Amino acid sequence: MSKVTCAAIIGTGTMGPGMGAVLARAGIEVRLYDVRAEALDAARDGVELADRVLDGLDAPSEPGGSIAFGSDLAEALDGCDFVIEAVPENLEIKQQVFADIESHVADDTVIASNTSGIPISDIAAACSRPERIVGMHWSNPPHLIPMIEVIPGGETGQGAVDTTNAVVERVGYRPVLIAKEVPGFVENRILYAIMREALDLVDRGVISRADMDACVKWGIGYKLAVIGPLELLDVAGLDIYESVASYLNQDLSNEAGVSSTITELTAQGKLGMKTDGGIYDYTPEKKQQLGGERAAKLVAVRKSLS
Ligand SMILES: NC(=O)c1ccc[n+]([C@@H]2O[C@H](COP(=O)([O-])OP(=O)(O)OC[C@H]3O[C@@H](n4cnc5c(N)ncnc54)[C@H](O)[C@@H]3O)[C@@H](O)[C@H]2O)c1
Repeated sequence: MSKVTCAAIIGTGTMGPGMGAVLARAGIEVRLYDVRAEALDAARDGVELADRVLDGLDAPSEPGGSIAFGSDLAEALDGCDFVIEAVPENLEIKQQVFADIESHVADDTVIASNTSGIPISDIAAACSRPERIVGMHWSNPPHLIPMIEVIPGGETGQGAVDTTNAVVERVGYRPVLIAKEVPGFVENRILYAIMREALDLVDRGVISRADMDACVKWGIGYKLAVIGPLELLDVAGLDIYESVASYLNQDLSNEAGVSSTITELTAQGKLGMKTDGGIYDYTPEKKQQLGGERAAKLVAVRKSLS
């Protein structure tokens, strides 16, 4: 397995700029490609912002790293030995993009998808070399969350997994292997289980929205960053877990649909911070203040945990 020297990121919306900044810091020549000129303009600002955060984290800068922006696919992929696809979460679009990528890269170039949950085998089904297709699921914001899920599909070769793991470790992140293809992979399954239970309790009037967030942030949230759920079982005692789980599991939400809180708000066009209102209300000033505060806190927490 040779060391990756040049990586292309195909699709530079929310995720691309942060991923690019992280890879460039590790000494990799990065090409950011998008079909939209506006996305490339926004990506320049996005990379600058991510770089400021990485400075705040005291992230080292290895020699040889660079970032180029472009809308010519052949140029972006020329000589690349690693590709990360980050186009919209749509199987048809991804399959077309993978076919285009495969027509421009060498036979042994690994092509990773940042998909949040589309099975890698489905993406690889339309590829001529499925053995080099692998999932590489970064968490948002990618320049701050130092864990990446690595997901082999049914036909992914060990070489593609090894190359992806090596890239993850080289940027100083922790790769976690998703050994079997399950919808949503693992991080999002855990998150969605938490959000389903939180919404159910709020919908049933058990707790207010603000108290729910305070309970999770100051209760399990901050603890989970230090002690994982399986470690926590040993800390609590398996006998205690067995006794509580034997009655509590039956009472937890197993709602297969989506909470009415969400469906009612989305029907009103209240989609969250992007529309100035969702679960909570926001003014432009409040959004700016929260953005700054949250970024600073995430940097401080990550520094104290590393
Ligand atoms: N946003 C998140 O929090 C997050 C987190 C982890 C993974 N992901 C996954 O990463 C991928 C990208 O997500 P995002 O939030 O950055 O999406 P986004 O919509 O913000 O950006 C996608 C970009 O892809 C571009 N694009 C569309 N078609 C293209 C094509 N044919 N070739 C090149 N570029 C093309 C668009 O112009 C856009 O700039 C998705 O699969 C998503 O599920 C997102």
